[in-house]
Amino acid sequence: MDEFFHRNWSSIRDEANIAWLVLDKTNMSVNTLNAEVLEELHSLLQALQKDPVPLGLVIQSGKRSGFIAGADVQQFKDLETSDAAFNFIRQGQIVFNYLADLPFPTVALIRGFCLGGGLELALACRYRVAIDHYKTKIGLPEVQLGLHPGWGGTVRLPRLIGGLKAMDLILTGKTLSAGEAYKRGVVDAAVPERQGLIAARHFIQKQPQPRVAAFVEKLTNSNFSRSVLSKILQKKMALKVNKVHYPAPYIALEHWREQGVESDSAFMNEAKSLSQLAVSETARNLVRVFHLQEKLKRLEPEVTFKPEHVHVIGAGVMGGDIAAWCALKNLRVTLQDQNEQAIAKALNRAVLLFKKHLKQPYQVKAAMDRLMPDVKGMGIKKADLIIEAIVEKVEAKNALFAMLEQEAKRNAIFATNTSTIPLSELTQSIKTQMRLIGLHFFNPVARMPLVEVIAGEDTEETIVQKGMAFVRAIEKLPLPVKSSPGFLVNRILLPYLLESMLLLEAGIPDEAIDKAAVEFGMPMGPIELADTVGLDVCLYAAKSLSHYFGGALPVGLSKRVEQGQLGKKTGQGFYQYKNGKLVKKKLSDSYRLPEDILDRLTMSMLNAAVACLREQVVSDVDYLDAGMIFGAGFPPFRGGPMHYIAEQGESLLLQRLNLLAQRYGQRFVPDVGWTTLKIS
Ligand code: NAI
Repeated sequence: MDEFFHRNWSSIRDEANIAWLVLDKTNMSVNTLNAEVLEELHSLLQALQKDPVPLGLVIQSGKRSGFIAGADVQQFKDLETSDAAFNFIRQGQIVFNYLADLPFPTVALIRGFCLGGGLELALACRYRVAIDHYKTKIGLPEVQLGLHPGWGGTVRLPRLIGGLKAMDLILTGKTLSAGEAYKRGVVDAAVPERQGLIAARHFIQKQPQPRVAAFVEKLTNSNFSRSVLSKILQKKMALKVNKVHYPAPYIALEHWREQGVESDSAFMNEAKSLSQLAVSETARNLVRVFHLQEKLKRLEPEVTFKPEHVHVIGAGVMGGDIAAWCALKNLRVTLQDQNEQAIAKALNRAVLLFKKHLKQPYQVKAAMDRLMPDVKGMGIKKADLIIEAIVEKVEAKNALFAMLEQEAKRNAIFATNTSTIPLSELTQSIKTQMRLIGLHFFNPVARMPLVEVIAGEDTEETIVQKGMAFVRAIEKLPLPVKSSPGFLVNRILLPYLLESMLLLEAGIPDEAIDKAAVEFGMPMGPIELADTVGLDVCLYAAKSLSHYFGGALPVGLSKRVEQGQLGKKTGQGFYQYKNGKLVKKKLSDSYRLPEDILDRLTMSMLNAAVACLREQVVSDVDYLDAGMIFGAGFPPFRGGPMHYIAEQGESLLLQRLNLLAQRYGQRFVPDVGWTTLKIS
């Protein structure tokens, strides 16, 4: 048995003359592809071509974490010019083309994630065997970084499974399980872990006919089909993806339409097209967002904590969905509310959530069994973590914590989902303060990845650490935040929501306001967002923040709450809702938005962001940007509020803010933090 070791690869030739290449990237927990890894692979493949030629080659990973997560994102970030990007992309293409042309059978043995460049490497192999494991995820997620595949993915995948099915993966960046990848023809086999090696050997020794696109699949790559299909796909995409903000999938589609999959020039054009995208502002900002997300994931607490039993009090919009999410993530949960109907509604929503995320009926049933209605609060005595999500009223929350201090286990952790109230105001008891943290989830819970983890002045450090560990255990992103009114996200978001209501009062149509924000890149406009959050919640939050920071309350907001028009949940807020769906009014084509509307909306957020940084509500610029992107949907392609300030230029924005202060008064006076602002 011959063995060779490189820095990142090892190569073993077994008794059956099969070569096994194992990628185990040095000093990294995850395999990614950079210039060094590609160079080594190239030289190993060249060596294999020399005598004695192996019977076949199997490529696999030496990491438990997965096969290959894609190209090294850091390497992309460091590429200064499109020429440098082009050279790196071509290097990968040349190595993968070499792999594809090897005269003996090649197999990619995939366990865990096989993404982007990882899948492109696998596509250059003659066969792909995927281990049917819950961690196996196969796809081309490049569009999520503002890129498209560049190592042959836009050519080889449509060749293999047809353009239509390939575009479904390339344009959305979605990932597939082993079983799904097999059904779609992306892999040749999906086998249980114990059969992985046997299956890989089987493909080498038996050399079955490699998969080719079926007749109908192949047809979708013809000139005529590409021209028709690309128009349809583009229209469909336009409903979801803004072409100006996120051009990558449109460029990938156009590349396929123009180049097809037959000629080798398609590879060269793929490299040219990607090299332009790689140095675009959008891609750079989305790569930054990827790093921000990794930074939050890496906030590895010093303790591990996965509660056996979570008790949630308040089964409304938030509490109901928090409880369901915890049950989805395998925790035992009791859900309490003074109103039985609220629990019933929450359980109905939970079934929908479970059905959406869990494939098998028995899994849905098991999740429902984990989520127990608990009108009497029997779970309080048993829970390790108690999350309070009742109405946003200090007195009500105070009374609740006084009761919990008596009833709960001595070592149970208390958490509040309050939107705005500093922890010190929720209880007078120092004992409660010591074990109280804020776990501030965002609406809708299932979709928003962030949870602010708030430490009060007296909260014990281990409790905060356990809170962080809990958030990771339920697969959300924890953001450490200081306990100050509104914490981070609401402190920044609320001035923007209130400004939108003042615009309404000044006669600007709601659709026009929302349209301006969506065009800036927000996932929904501020008026619709206020309706979604609930106008009562907004009003309470506004009152609470104005108590600390001043500012008047929009009359329209108080009036609607008085009339019971609380937004989406009551069917009427600023907008009207039918069966939970917003009834859209069409904005007249002739309507022209006053020129400073977008400035009024964005500057109210940016000014508050600067104040938060000055007060160290979060410890740095990255956390601030991450909080606003993952908690409020601040446009990812803009890289976050602080990054946006840096890009636009602080002095220019200050001028705009001063102008708004002259026109509209006090609320736009620049925070003193602008004078000392340092954004690297
Ligand atoms: P909600 O009004 O939908 O639900 C509150 C629930 O608490 C109701 O079902 C009510 O019956 C129940 N409740 C009230 N007092 C209770 C008590 N003493 N014992 C048991 N149950 C009681 O309110 P929502 O929107 O779910 O908000 C809950 C908390 O989450 C508030 O603190 C709010 O500020 C916060 N929050 C709200 C967000 C939103 O978008 N709505 C986002 C993030 C936080």
